[in-house]
Amino acid sequence: MTNKVRSAVFPVAGRGTRFLPATKASPKEMLPIVDKPLIQYAVEEAVDAGATKLIFITGSSKRAIEDHFDSDPELERALSDSGKDDLLRSIRDIVPKGVTCIYIRQGEPLGLGHAVLCAKSAVGNEPFFVHLADDLIAGDPPCLTQMAGEYARHSSSVIAVETVPHEDTSSYGIVAVNDESRITQIVEKPDPEDAPSNSAVVGRYLLAPEIFDKLETTGRGAGGEIQLTDAIADLLAESAVYAYSFSGERFDCGSKLGYLKATVAYGLDHPDTGDALRAHLRDTLCD
Ligand code: UTP
Repeated sequence: MTNKVRSAVFPVAGRGTRFLPATKASPKEMLPIVDKPLIQYAVEEAVDAGATKLIFITGSSKRAIEDHFDSDPELERALSDSGKDDLLRSIRDIVPKGVTCIYIRQGEPLGLGHAVLCAKSAVGNEPFFVHLADDLIAGDPPCLTQMAGEYARHSSSVIAVETVPHEDTSSYGIVAVNDESRITQIVEKPDPEDAPSNSAVVGRYLLAPEIFDKLETTGRGAGGEIQLTDAIADLLAESAVYAYSFSGERFDCGSKLGYLKATVAYGLDHPDTGDALRAHLRDTLCD
């Protein structure tokens, strides 16, 4: 494998049922945290890690994502004419020069594994990132940049993991690892009594292209979906895959509570809202 990771895949074709009705006509990846949609945080993280080819796997009602990363000359002119230069800067060059966006339609939401397989020809025979935008991670350096460093050490696939409460294993892919953090077993959403550990896969992957061969033969798994976890389990037989405990805080923005926690954390950190939000929360909680 080459050591350069140029492609980042963003599967954004899920139904987002946990966030209905907000996600009925608009993708959950367009939900804003303070003033940027989740998918923009995702793109910034991938670009920071060196990605120059951004591959979005879209489903129905995903036009908003394409529009968000497209230029809007009319809006730019209006902001420029009214002297709103800060706002103009915030909408211009959301995608930096030299970075390409590719949109691929996943005909039916057959699962995360199927969504990743849709990116095969766009990625080619190279390692690539998979970024799930609803897992927002505040990390310094950002999580994918940390993982690119880890990949440079091993030249093998790397998957971000986090310890979760034992009773929550049935919501995650769960891994068992050896002393060198090499994954020995991975299983999708096991019941707590069957889980090999409480080390859970989160929404960041750096995968070798061999995963595509595995995905092509992976049948439907948990929930009747084609699971990325099952293809990774097949990959383990012939390639090393490492678990990486990232440094940073993860917010599950696909859930209502996780989304609210992220809004508060990023709102407290934002120069426009931090002080006033802190005072407001203090007043509200002390009442
Ligand atoms: P989730 O498991 O969060 O499913 O998908 P979901 O449909 O988006 O949300 P809920 O559970 O119904 O609320 C994990 C990631 O995989 C993508 C989703 O967009 C999300 O980023 N995905 C899932 C696809 O792109 N295609 C699929 O067929 C399934």
